[in-house]
Amino acid sequence: EKGGYEHFMLKEIHEQPRSIRDCFRGRLNVEKGWVGLGGIKDYEKQLANAKRIIMVACGTSWHAGLVGEYLFEELTRIPVEVEYASEFRYRNPIISEEDIVIAISQSGETADTLAALNLAKDKGATILGICNVVGSSISRVTDAGSYTHAGPEIGVASTKAFTAQVTVLTLMALTIARNKGTLKESDFRRIITELDLIPEKVSRILDKNEKLEEISKVYKDASNALYLGRGISFPVALEGALKLKEISYIHAEGYPAAEMKHGPIALIDEEMPVFVIATKGTSYEKVVSNIQEVKARKGKIIAVITEGDEQVKGMADHYIEIPETDDHLVPLLATIPLQLISYHVAVMRGANVDQPRNLAKSVTVE
Ligand code: M6R
Repeated sequence: EKGGYEHFMLKEIHEQPRSIRDCFRGRLNVEKGWVGLGGIKDYEKQLANAKRIIMVACGTSWHAGLVGEYLFEELTRIPVEVEYASEFRYRNPIISEEDIVIAISQSGETADTLAALNLAKDKGATILGICNVVGSSISRVTDAGSYTHAGPEIGVASTKAFTAQVTVLTLMALTIARNKGTLKESDFRRIITELDLIPEKVSRILDKNEKLEEISKVYKDASNALYLGRGISFPVALEGALKLKEISYIHAEGYPAAEMKHGPIALIDEEMPVFVIATKGTSYEKVVSNIQEVKARKGKIIAVITEGDEQVKGMADHYIEIPETDDHLVPLLATIPLQLISYHVAVMRGANVDQPRNLAKSVTVE
């Protein structure tokens, strides 16, 4: 049942080239220059005309929502708010018939997310879902939605569901952008061509498993870890930190790299591993200066970099190279090595990777 892997989590991490491809099968045609999501077809106009979109979710799915916020705002210019479902539902949110609320949930059973949706529905909003489990409560209560098609996820730590959620959000953003005319044809073509190449690039990262295991050995006894990213990679930092803390029980925090100087920098000493997503692209130079700030305080840098980036290689204690891709798609690649490092660290610490203490796969209590 674990397909020869020692744990479900490892199996599910390795399934990602396939699960991402399954997610865009029939929804993406590079030759024809087309994207579409059958499940939300009837809502395409409404989405394109939306004044704002609210995403509600918990945990890893909330991180996917944050990636979605960057994608939607950048590609469609529609303002997006991403809310923790639990916070949203308990503060009488301002919401009307004009709003579109998108719930993101692997299980489709998370109590807070379901309750948030019902609240939005009562206020007359259109409610859409991005779920993995077919026929789940959230998928039944929504007006429409798109499944992630990642296949069953057994490990409590969400891995392939996250990349599939981000894939659906990318397809949604592209569809809306197309309908709104907010994206140049050449940019649209470039992004979908790159999206189609993502599964193969994920495989290339998975091939680096041995190197990732070596890095994990060095940091397995850490008591704390920081994860830094900027822009669309900031949610990747949050997700990296969550993955480490929930399965290895090492205290970890994700931060937007530039926020470091507003507090967390005080924590940095030679004992502190700092994971930095430092891929080439918009904020590259800024991230390089954040790395220098960490080095100046003797922190250890583990950098996720674009293949062939000699500059950061020279500064980092360890680096993981990932293939070059379009800026919008970096989360789909940068997440992978962080998942594997968390996995290896947890295994080396003797933790129960698939069933961490105090956690349930779907949180159906409020
Ligand atoms: O099933 P859902 O996506 O609604 O679950 C939300 C969270 O409980 C879930 O993502 C949780 O944070 C995972 N353990 C993260 O790995």
